[in-house]
Amino acid sequence: MKLIAGNSNRALAEAISSYLNTPLANASIRRFSDMEVFAEILENVRGEDVFLIQSTSFPTNDNLMELLVTIDALRRGSARRITAVIPYFGYARQDRKTGPRTPISAKLVANLITTAGANRVLTMELHAGQIQGFFDVPTDNLIVGPVFTPEFQKRFEGESLVMVSPDVGGVVRARAMAKKVNADLAIIDKRREKAGVSEVMNIIGDVKGRVCVLVDDIVDSGGTLCNAAQALMDKGAKEVHAYVVHGVLSGGAVARVTASPMKSLVITDSIAATEAVRVAHNIEQLSVAPLLGEAIRRIAEDRSVSAILD
Ligand code: R5P
Repeated sequence: MKLIAGNSNRALAEAISSYLNTPLANASIRRFSDMEVFAEILENVRGEDVFLIQSTSFPTNDNLMELLVTIDALRRGSARRITAVIPYFGYARQDRKTGPRTPISAKLVANLITTAGANRVLTMELHAGQIQGFFDVPTDNLIVGPVFTPEFQKRFEGESLVMVSPDVGGVVRARAMAKKVNADLAIIDKRREKAGVSEVMNIIGDVKGRVCVLVDDIVDSGGTLCNAAQALMDKGAKEVHAYVVHGVLSGGAVARVTASPMKSLVITDSIAATEAVRVAHNIEQLSVAPLLGEAIRRIAEDRSVSAILD
């Protein structure tokens, strides 16, 4: 097996490499002076089972191009099998036509990755499960249950816990988490009754005096979570925490989260943390390196991956 890291999240790639006790292969992925991406694999990969680790996070297009160009370099270097390990799959939110003459970019990006030469994909908590089917090669979509669940059990032991989906789209994920830790479920239903009238947030479920844990796949601007946290506190929640897989946290998101009533926001390291994230008083990171490392090991050994998700 060979592990190769793109530039998007070197720290995660190194943590996976140390979990697997396998060094990162020598490769140089760099820019020409006009910012064209160039990849050079500096050791033999002929006949190897190669895992290329690259999240397509900010700067999304540059990181995507790095992924594509490096897959091409590996394919032309006669790697036996190339697995694109994409802890955070950018463009996932564009998974359907949202109006006439709009793209389904998640499908386009999946096509680009397979056309470049990836033989398999390993990713995590896709925005919508059906995106797995956008790839015409075997794709494993890990869930973070094994990372979040023990943490919930330890941190909230003895509390009257409610898992909260911040929107109707996230109910399946929140319900699965609630079931795992034997908690209740609440759902936030956002509605704009009339154009120009501010949004009303209805909370379905009992949150008064309870510890509420918002569960989501992505926190980007932070608007969804911060508004949900405020609505829960207004309804008498004891405290609000959030567990979100992918900390995109663009623009003023970190400032919004630190100023919100959220006691903690826990994200994973699927996306490299910025300095602002690292120093934020209420943002914490949990590592998915052991989860991804174990999945890589099992793929390489042709063993079950789903077994680690139970
Ligand atoms: C939406 O369907 C997603 O699950 C997230 O709730 C959304 O992407 C969060 O975005 P933001 O942080 O910008 O509100």
